[in-house]
Amino acid sequence: MQKVGVIPGDGIGPEVIKEARRVLDSVTESKSIALEFEEFPLGAGHYLKTGEVLAEETLQRLSRKDAILLGAMGDPRVKPGILEKGVLLRLRFHFDQYVNLRPVKLYEGVPSPLADNHRKIDIQFVRENTEDFYVGLGARVKSGISNTSLSLIRRAYEAKFDVGVDLKDEEELAFQIGVITKHGAKRIMDFAFQLAKKNGIDLVTSVDKANVLTEMYGLWREACEEASARHGIAKEFQYVDAVALHMVRNPERFKLLVAPNLFGDILTDLGAALQGGLGLAPSANINPSGVSMFEPVHGSAPDIAGKGMANPVGAILSSALMLDTLGHKAAADEIESAVKEVLRSGKHRTADMGGKTSTSKMTDEILKHLAHR
Ligand code: NAD
Ligand code: IPM
Ligand code: MN
Repeated sequence: MQKVGVIPGDGIGPEVIKEARRVLDSVTESKSIALEFEEFPLGAGHYLKTGEVLAEETLQRLSRKDAILLGAMGDPRVKPGILEKGVLLRLRFHFDQYVNLRPVKLYEGVPSPLADNHRKIDIQFVRENTEDFYVGLGARVKSGISNTSLSLIRRAYEAKFDVGVDLKDEEELAFQIGVITKHGAKRIMDFAFQLAKKNGIDLVTSVDKANVLTEMYGLWREACEEASARHGIAKEFQYVDAVALHMVRNPERFKLLVAPNLFGDILTDLGAALQGGLGLAPSANINPSGVSMFEPVHGSAPDIAGKGMANPVGAILSSALMLDTLGHKAAADEIESAVKEVLRSGKHRTADMGGKTSTSKMTDEILKHLAHR
């Protein structure tokens, strides 16, 4: 029996997770896969009721799961960052899920903003998930002399920063520190090159801004060079601004992109747009030797929450990534094939894809196309 912790979360999170569960139930039943689900009511509702963001005890309980399935975090009633950093990022960091794998695939029959929808877009997007400008080190300081002590604690290391600021002729400043460690860069590069090997990809494209953020992305590049030599697969370096351009103009040129956390966040929304919309994009937060967490790329979409309009495909494909990681590749493939068939027909499209199909109807169609039906 494998155990899955489910965090439906905020906004459309619970709506799309409900649909992912329907698909999971159907596939696991037909394949006699024993999954046990336990729901965790984290998010805005829980926070506003109890004042608690994420209890230590909840982390303990989640640590005994084989995987976590998450909807989305974030609510207009709560100050930005409290839930996103307090739950989502805390989980990624606590479980050391250092890989954020976000496949960008344009399925047949899906309207993409690219003029020609028959393009072969199939990018393995590997985003580093524990470092960079996401480490949460920063402060706002006022004019004069101030000292701030910041600490970064990860499973493998700890770093303390004592930042003294002497601010003259300006009343306030805010700073935020980005961090790349050799350890952090090496392990994401190893994952990227191993994934390339597994998929027969002969070129890894590394994304950075080493022409400006020379320290951080200098180290990043070194790690990429070394991994390229270690794994015997070619690499190229591209600046993030150029990658944004090429992803729109000629996305076929990329097979595997490996990016630092912040650029990876931004470019994967761009990738989602290319693949037909945020509602279609899945993701996996992976710790290869720990608890991984699966969630659609999109957020809580408060603008459409409660309307039955959300596209459930990103969440459904995320649950397929979860099954694959849990060792059930055939079940994962069955889900992806069903999604592909429904999309290929072009008959069922949610509002984000320019159609009128509701959240639950979209799932009904996917259920009908599961091979065992
Ligand atoms: P968003 O991803 O929630 O929405 C962006 C746009 O895409 C909106 O117009 C929305 O309606 C649309 N959209 C998103 N998912 C869709 C789906 N499944 N079907 C159809 N349309 C969909 O991003 P945002 O509006 O910038 O952020 C809203 C909240 O979500 C914020 O609180 C933000 O911090 C949070 N957020 C959370 C996650 C996460 O939990 N992983 C990711 C991104 C944003
Ligand atoms: C995502 C989201 C998160 C991120 C936010 C909500 C913390 O945008 O999963 O892409 O920046 O990683
Ligand atoms: Mn994002």
